[in-house]
Amino acid sequence: MKDVWSQVRLKGKPERKGDSAEGEVPVVSSVPEDKSDAIAPEPSCWRCPVCKEPLNIDGRSFRCKNRHTFDKAKEGYTNLLLPNKKNSAEPGDSKAMLLGRRVYLERGFYAPLADKLAELIKQSFPDNPVLNILDAGCGEGYYSGRIAEQLAGEHQFMGIDISRAAMRMAGKRYKDMQFAVASNYELPVADHSVDVLLRVFAPVSDAEVARVLKPGGLYLWVHPGEQHLFELRVLIYDQPQPHTVADDKTTVDGLVWQSMEVVSYPLHLPDSEAVKGLLAMTPYYWSASREKQAACECLPELDLRADFRVSVLRKV
Ligand SMILES: C[S@@+](CC[C@H](N)C(=O)[O-])C[C@H]1O[C@@H](n2cnc3c(N)ncnc32)[C@H](O)[C@@H]1O
Ligand SMILES: [Zn+2]
Repeated sequence: MKDVWSQVRLKGKPERKGDSAEGEVPVVSSVPEDKSDAIAPEPSCWRCPVCKEPLNIDGRSFRCKNRHTFDKAKEGYTNLLLPNKKNSAEPGDSKAMLLGRRVYLERGFYAPLADKLAELIKQSFPDNPVLNILDAGCGEGYYSGRIAEQLAGEHQFMGIDISRAAMRMAGKRYKDMQFAVASNYELPVADHSVDVLLRVFAPVSDAEVARVLKPGGLYLWVHPGEQHLFELRVLIYDQPQPHTVADDKTTVDGLVWQSMEVVSYPLHLPDSEAVKGLLAMTPYYWSASREKQAACECLPELDLRADFRVSVLRKV
């Protein structure tokens, strides 16, 4: 705890040169609150990363009862990652990777996957209650954005990513959603507060998933199927192997397995921009030789297979 306090900025003290603006560094407020003209703070599903008490949204700040205060950045996201929890200066995906991903995704190449996720949510909650939906490792926010378009209702979308560049992009684009820089291994989210937890190609802690989901809550975990982008791997590797698909019945303590959904379709990338965009999104691209990368980047088009698996689990 001492380390945390030594690294945060005290509200009311002058900023050191180099201290960043709102949203960049968590702020621990030590000043008494001004109650004049106070508007009641709104409760939220977020919890304080310092003391784990609930965070209320008070104008442009998130604040717990111990007055740990986290200001929203101008782009609309909040930094809930304490400095002592960072393992590098800028963890997570870089701005360049995220921009490439946004251009690629917004051309709709993975829209069938997003639409399947929306359909699974609708089927699981047929009475259409208002849902708290957490997108863990949401990147620049494409999947939540598309799912929100498909679901009727006033659902609350929350997105978490360890990349600040991701949260900047997501916050700017999706104004009605709440985004926080944080780790999926220590979600700054209250116990039993989430109806749907989306995990699309991102790492998470299973224990955290089980902790934050409400009883009956839905966990949708997207991972690659055997044939996912195999044609691309043929171009990259001398001896490409199919993906190993996680066991059919994924187990997570406290959750029951429901089904493994398959989203598999032929994917036509009609120009070299799309090919390059996809290449830059794939982890194996970065391990390819410079020659193989260059050869792929010259391709005027590419036909391949998108092959996703969605493991569907429910909190007991
Ligand atoms: C392959 S991308 C997927 C992004 C998004 N779900 C999508 O499919 O467009 C993985 C994301 O996980 C984020 N990430 C990596 N480690 C993380 C962690 N420990 N906690 C939260 N996010 C993390 C990265 O910054 C990146 O945005
Ligand atoms: Zn606190």
